[in-house]
Amino acid sequence: MAAITGVHGHVPDYVLTNTELARLVSTSDAWITERTGIRERRLLKGEGLGSSHMGAEAVRGLLAKTGTPAGEVDLLICATTTPDMVFPSTANLICDMVGIRDIGSFDVQAACSGFVYAMTIACQFIATGTHRKIVVVGADKMSAIIDYTDRATCVLFGDGAGAILVEPSTNGHGIVDTVIRSDGAGMPHLHQKAGGSRMPPTAETVAKRLHYVHQEGAAVYKFAVARMAEVAAELLTRNGLTPDDIAWLVPHQANRRIIEATAERMGLPMERVMVSIHKYGNTTAATIPICLWDYEPHLKLGDRRILAAFGGGFTWGGAYVTWAYAGAEATAELAPGAARACLTVKS
Ligand SMILES: CC(C)(COP(=O)(O)OP(=O)(O)OC[C@H]1O[C@@H](n2cnc3c(N)ncnc32)[C@H](O)[C@@H]1OP(=O)(O)O)[C@@H](O)C(=O)NCCC(=O)NCCS
Repeated sequence: MAAITGVHGHVPDYVLTNTELARLVSTSDAWITERTGIRERRLLKGEGLGSSHMGAEAVRGLLAKTGTPAGEVDLLICATTTPDMVFPSTANLICDMVGIRDIGSFDVQAACSGFVYAMTIACQFIATGTHRKIVVVGADKMSAIIDYTDRATCVLFGDGAGAILVEPSTNGHGIVDTVIRSDGAGMPHLHQKAGGSRMPPTAETVAKRLHYVHQEGAAVYKFAVARMAEVAAELLTRNGLTPDDIAWLVPHQANRRIIEATAERMGLPMERVMVSIHKYGNTTAATIPICLWDYEPHLKLGDRRILAAFGGGFTWGGAYVTWAYAGAEATAELAPGAARACLTVKS
């Protein structure tokens, strides 16, 4: 069995508050907070910086924290919907930036479910015994594809990255079960129209603002709640678990109301649900590893948790994970100011 043996994250310094957004579009702090639970999100500023920049920062921290020499990593998978370039892959770029050479690396595109997809792939490489130290990254610079004149999408998204180390389990704890699913009929509800091979970029596509996220919020909302609850229920049932067995639900962070509705359908109180959406918004493939990073000091050895994600495609998926190390020990050596006080983050 594969296990998560380390986690790290990176969010850019620039904080885009609801108040600042209200100066760009017709919205208000009250509306955004009430309808989404988001208070602020981070934006990556700086010329020439893409998702790889944040992914590399997260991976550097992960390797340092877990005492893993770059030369020992034998596969790197990056989940992203906002690759730096169409090619080469963002995974390739991250490897180069952190000094990982001569290994396989590739991107996974499954929108907001990308991290669960990439982690599932990593599990297979561990299970076959061909690889022993795999880095899985979720990195998205959503600000690159968000229309800051569209109030229904620009309030939701932010930039960030998270990374985990996946190794063979040595103590019986790890990634016990995973589920990945998709339904391409969901495309009309959430997609980016231009920029791909179907509609290559032209002056007209730019003028018509077709290079941004197109979203039908209400349809996505309904789908998200139904599928996240469904995948969580499937993982509970097939692993003989009840909600009482679960220490934490780790949901994709798209809208606090979606998270609450999922938890309610699962019969879990919000005290056992990881939430970081108020600080970072929806960072797409990065939300789940950023949550794990945020809550790491409070993760106990053997804690049972359910991960659940959904995204454009539609895609969805989840995992049943028993935590393989004591988070408090892994973060004990952090300087006091660097510790993430996750208990203060819940709204
Ligand atoms: C987008 C979303 C926040 C909208 O919230 P909602 O409560 O469903 O709001 P509605 O879509 O019903 O819109 C209600 C009204 O608010 C308006 N509105 C939308 N965004 C607004 C904003 N930022 N500020 C103020 N009003 C806004 C709408 O224009 C609409 O006005 P109208 O009734 O005059 O047409 C919500 O649908 C959502 O979160 N959907 C899921 C999105 C998602 O998860 N995407 C990522 C997938 S991984």
